[in-house]
This record gives sequence, C-alpha cells and structure tokens, in this order.
Amino acid sequence: MTSPAFFRLSALALIFVAFFSCASESNAPLTLPTDQATLDLMERGGKLIAANCYSCHTTDADLNARLAPPMAAVKSHYLNKETTFATFTDELIRFVHKPSPVYSKMPGARKRFGLMPALPLPEDELQAIAAFIYYTDLEAPDWLEAHQREELATVRQRDTMAERGRNIAQQTKAILGKNLLQALNAGGAENAVQFCTTRAIPLTDSSANHFQVRVKRVSDRPRNPDNTADSLEMVQLVEIREDLAAGATDVYRLVEGPEAVTGYYPIVTNGMCLQCHGERGTQILPATLSALEALYPTDQATGYTTNQLRGIWVVTMPRKQSLK
Ligand code: HEC
Ligand code: HEC
Repeated sequence: MTSPAFFRLSALALIFVAFFSCASESNAPLTLPTDQATLDLMERGGKLIAANCYSCHTTDADLNARLAPPMAAVKSHYLNKETTFATFTDELIRFVHKPSPVYSKMPGARKRFGLMPALPLPEDELQAIAAFIYYTDLEAPDWLEAHQREELATVRQRDTMAERGRNIAQQTKAILGKNLLQALNAGGAENAVQFCTTRAIPLTDSSANHFQVRVKRVSDRPRNPDNTADSLEMVQLVEIREDLAAGATDVYRLVEGPEAVTGYYPIVTNGMCLQCHGERGTQILPATLSALEALYPTDQATGYTTNQLRGIWVVTMPRKQSLK
C-alpha cells in the first residue's frame, strides 16, 4: 500500500527543487521582521508551538524514534519562491484544522507516520505559530539534509514512473476511443457493443505488448466479469474515488513492488459513455440493451451519469525497464 494522493508529487518535486536550488543553509527568510507587532507574535508563537506541536514535531528524536517530521522539514515543504507570510499562514492553518491528503505536501511523511490528527486551535494562535515557524531559523537535525536528498531522488523516480504509466493509459484509451467512435459511427451503439466485446480486451492487450507492460481496465461494477477489480485494485479504486470526490486533480496512485511498479489511473464517464453505461431503456436504447443483455447476463455497468468513476486503468511496468 502506498499513501494516497500522489497526484501532487510533481508539485512536490518542484518545491524540492526550489528549496535545494534557492535556499541557503538557513531556512530563515531573507528579511527578518523588525516591527514590534510581528516580534510579539513570534514570541507568542514560540510558546504555543512548544505547548502544542513539539510533542510530535520535536527536533531531537532521530528518524526511527519519531512521531512526525521535524518542524524544519515541514517548513521546507511549505516554502517555495512564491511563498509569502500570508500564503504560508493560510496553508498551515488549512492543514492543521483539517489534515487531508488533498492539501498535504508531505506524502512521504504521511506514509511513514500516518495522517496528522486535526488540532482545533484558534486561528489567532495558529497565526502566531505560523509567524514563529516562518520567521525563525529553525534548527534542523543532522540527518535531515541527507534524508531530503534521498527523498527527492525517490520522488523524481516515482514521478517518472507515474508519468510513464499515465502516458500508456492515455495512449491505450486513445486507441480504444478511436475504434469505438468508428464503430459507433458505422453502426450505432447496438453494433459498437460488438466492437467492445470482441475488440476491447485484445486492443488493450496489444497496446500493452507494444509498451512491454501490462495494461487493463477494471471496475467495481464490471460489465465483463473478467474486468472485476480484485481486492488490491479495489483499495486503489476506493482511494482514487475519495481523492476525486475531494476535488483533487491529476489523481493517480502508484504501488512499488520488488519486480514492478503499478500505476492506477481513473476512468471517468462522459456523455458518450451513457449510451452504453447510462440508464437502461432511455439512455441505453432498447436495441443496445438487448445486445448487452445477451452478451453480459451479469452486467453491473449501467446507471452511470457523467463524471463518475467507471473504473481504473491498471498499468504494470517492470522495474528493470523502468530504470532505463
Ligand atoms: C499528535 C502528533 C502531532 C501533533 C501534536 C502535531 N502534528 Fe503536525 N504532523 C503530524 C504528523 C504525523 C505529520 C506527518 C503526516 C502528515 O503530513 O499528515 C504532521 C505534519 C504536519 C504538517 C505538514 C502536513 C503535510 O503533509 O503537508 C504541518 C503543516 C503540521 N504538521 C503542522 C503542525 C502544527 C502547526 C502543529 C501544532 C499546532 C502540529 N502539526 C502538531 C503529527 C502531529
Ligand atoms: C458502444 C457501447 C459502449 C460505449 C459507448 C462505452 N462502453 Fe464501456 N464497455 C462496453 C462494453 C460492451 C464493455 C465490456 C467489454 C469487455 O467485454 O471487455 C465495456 C467495458 C468498459 C470498461 C471495463 C470494465 C467493465 O465494466 O467491464 C470500462 C472501464 C468502460 N467500459 C468504460 C467506458 C467509458 C469511460 C466510456 C465512455 C468514454 C465507455 N465505456 C463507452 C460498451 C461501451
């Protein structure tokens, strides 16, 4: 199992790049505040962070004895070239009030420690904490820099694999879509059903052969029982559905095995799909419906509306080849 929401890994990689290329040894901002109001806020924040955050985000514990990343690491993930004190504060408060994979910038930490529990601190206290973190040169443990470099390399590699899997899914989808459209134009949905039946699986297979990977479509409500998501795929499908429901974009999941890396990508309905996956008897015309019923007595893939998760692409890529 991987942690959810790898859809923001590209963004994360950018943040890392920004961090390593622009940050000096210190993680303090270049201009320190001099006005008394901000200095007071920082002082208050220093006390609040010690009371509310350091029990988990301590600097001292080493990597294996930790409950959460050190605050210096959190800070580095929340800073990039565009960050201002205001955006930093907003993002910090948003996460602390409602930790969610959708807003998380630390997928590696989530995987290691689990999602942070929500802390219902008043907004003004979190503003003070944000001021302290933002304007203080936080002490970072010795191992942090090496750890972040390692993480960056892993993130880059994962990004590459995720991108590769996405391309393969998209190209397979394009081939299927093009053939489906031709079949629809030639003989309507009723005849195109035959295309899906006789050609869909062979087409995805030949596309897979071309890329030296395994590609398939699976669903929690399959039409063809051969396309039923197994229990591992169901876990991914449910997570993908949750991420989509939470409004995330670029949703996918990546699971790394010793031999292969598997990418999971959403398949979402549009209007065109409903003539075969929509409401029986209305959107799916009677002639199409009887063709479907004859071929798929256990069909569960009707009753969809647009923009629903119809299933997922499962792209399994061998590791050896992936490292080329
Ligand atoms: C009970 C332990 C615990 C406490 C207390 C805690 N955190 Fe966390 N925090 C975590 C863990 C675990 C993570 C890493 C997993 C994650 O990102 O959700 C984390 C991550 C974070 C992140 C980065 C989240 C991301 O993924 O982008 C921020 C920001 C953060 N904490 C702020 C705070 C602040 C501010 C406080 C104090 C007000 C605080 N935390 C108190 C456990 C804690
Ligand atoms: C012309 C009818 C038709 C149209 C239009 C159609 N499908 Fe299908 N779909 C089928 C048939 C038939 C199958 C079963 C294929 C098989 O036997 O492998 C199927 C299977 C699937 C599967 C594999 C899982 C399963 O249920 O067996 C997915 C995913 C899927 N369709 C998604 C879509 C999406 C998304 C669209 C719109 C972009 C769409 N389909 C449009 C007829 C259609």
